[in-house]
Amino acid sequence: MRYLITAGPTREPIDPVRYLGNRSSGKMGYALAEAALAAGHQVILITGPTSLAPPDRAEVTHVETAREMYEAVSTRIGEIEVAIFCAAVSDYRVAETSLKKMKKTGDPLTLPLVENPDILGSARDHMGFQGFLVGFAAETDRVIENARQKLQRKQCDMLVANDVSQPGIGFEADQNEIAILTASGGNEILSKTSKTELARQLIERIDRQVADAASSRN
Ligand code: CTP
Repeated sequence: MRYLITAGPTREPIDPVRYLGNRSSGKMGYALAEAALAAGHQVILITGPTSLAPPDRAEVTHVETAREMYEAVSTRIGEIEVAIFCAAVSDYRVAETSLKKMKKTGDPLTLPLVENPDILGSARDHMGFQGFLVGFAAETDRVIENARQKLQRKQCDMLVANDVSQPGIGFEADQNEIAILTASGGNEILSKTSKTELARQLIERIDRQVADAASSRN
């Protein structure tokens, strides 16, 4: 099958030297790309800035901002069967980017922010994606309840939730612990292990769900 995977953070420019960013390292998304390739799939990896080398056999598009990621996803989503939105997309950007480096004035500074497009939330209605849709949710409280709502709101087939308030897992870490929720009501915990191993287990679950959905249609 053909997979599209988003990974890493986005960067929203404030001026030529500063940006709004987040702590995503891209490790989980890159591990998913590796695992999908290892399972025999083709992979389009759309990635924000990371320090990682992308997998050789993936087709890679590098982007910086949420709007660039949105464009890249909407251009390619018609070609694929499985979309995994693992990127930590900035919900906001600075309303007006300064073309010159901003100087301090001695006064408090307020930067108006505007909302970025929700890429995952646009996949079904605006991009018309009909394949298997997987979202991620980084939560700090009421993890499962929030994730279940997110799954429904963004019309996902599967939602992968992780608790980013726990030390040693999630952002920047090499390990993670995730809960997998499915649209059919399933709820499975994959306990703490390396992101490489979790990615392998996750791709296995996705492939199984896609195969089950196909056989129940026939
Ligand atoms: N996502 C996206 N585009 C955005 C924001 C998020 O595609 N502009 C995707 C992420 O890649 C992830 C999922 O949406 O798969 C969850 O993002 P999150 O920020 O947790 O969801 P929100 O709808 O912003 O919910 P919250 O109210 O918790 O911020």
